[in-house]
Amino acid sequence: MNAPKYLRHRFQRTRVDRSTDADDTIDLRAALMSAEGEAAALRRRFERTAPPTDDAGRLAHAEARAEAAEAELAALRGEHVRAERDARLRELQLERYADDLCAVFKEERMRGRELGRHYAQTVRALANALEKRDAYTGKHAERVTAYGLRIARSVGLRIDAVPQLEFGFLLHDVGKVAVPDSVLYKPGRLDDAEFALMARHPVAGDEILRHLDFLDDARLTVRNHHERWDGTGYPDRLAGEAIPLAARVFAVADALDALTTNRPYRAAASWESAREEILRSSGTHFDPAVVAGFERIAIDELIQIQEHAA
Ligand SMILES: [Fe+2]
Repeated sequence: MNAPKYLRHRFQRTRVDRSTDADDTIDLRAALMSAEGEAAALRRRFERTAPPTDDAGRLAHAEARAEAAEAELAALRGEHVRAERDARLRELQLERYADDLCAVFKEERMRGRELGRHYAQTVRALANALEKRDAYTGKHAERVTAYGLRIARSVGLRIDAVPQLEFGFLLHDVGKVAVPDSVLYKPGRLDDAEFALMARHPVAGDEILRHLDFLDDARLTVRNHHERWDGTGYPDRLAGEAIPLAARVFAVADALDALTTNRPYRAAASWESAREEILRSSGTHFDPAVVAGFERIAIDELIQIQEHAA
């Protein structure tokens, strides 16, 4: 996570100040060395001319110049000591700024993580509320999310980098709140008009979430989880890679859960026959690359995921 802009600016400003101080110290040191050189030259000259001479005026003049140089040298030494002390104070101040910056950065990062946890808890609460409406599917959202995340990892999707992936899986059917109960809970098959009502739920879900910026990517799954690889799905009739990858992954996870759980109108299929059914639909309903990723996951692991989510 990046440090806040105002802190970066403050840190850059203090770095500039530090370089200016360093330049000043270097200039002062050069002046001091030059003065020391001049004083030494005068001293040598004075020593050469020190023996008794007739020219008392020249001797007095040289003595005076040597004394002035010594005084200037002492003044420069004092200034140099002060400059070094100031530089040290400035350095200590910079160290304090750096410590402050580090503490603020850690705090911001902790708050970011906390916020992320709150988002996840909120999304999960909403998903649980939806599940309560639909008694027969039980923990469908939890299971399908767990299958989806596992398949996503198998096809190389970076799950930790895209938390919205999980949010999209959890909320995939949020739009069903807009489907009439008579259709949603109908035990038998839906007629055409009823199916048309049911088929609106991906768009309804997308609209429900459209003002939540942190769910932008999640909306892709919500809207497109009933698309098919061959372009015969809904609502947008997308085909192939035009369907967001998360939605392609989700479609396999959703089918797996539907096939392996009991429904009022049919019993659960065995894991082997569910897997066969999904493999048969590779290239028509499902993305072949996602199905290949799914096939690499052992059935025992899928059973564990189901039991853990129950
Ligand atoms: Fe759905």
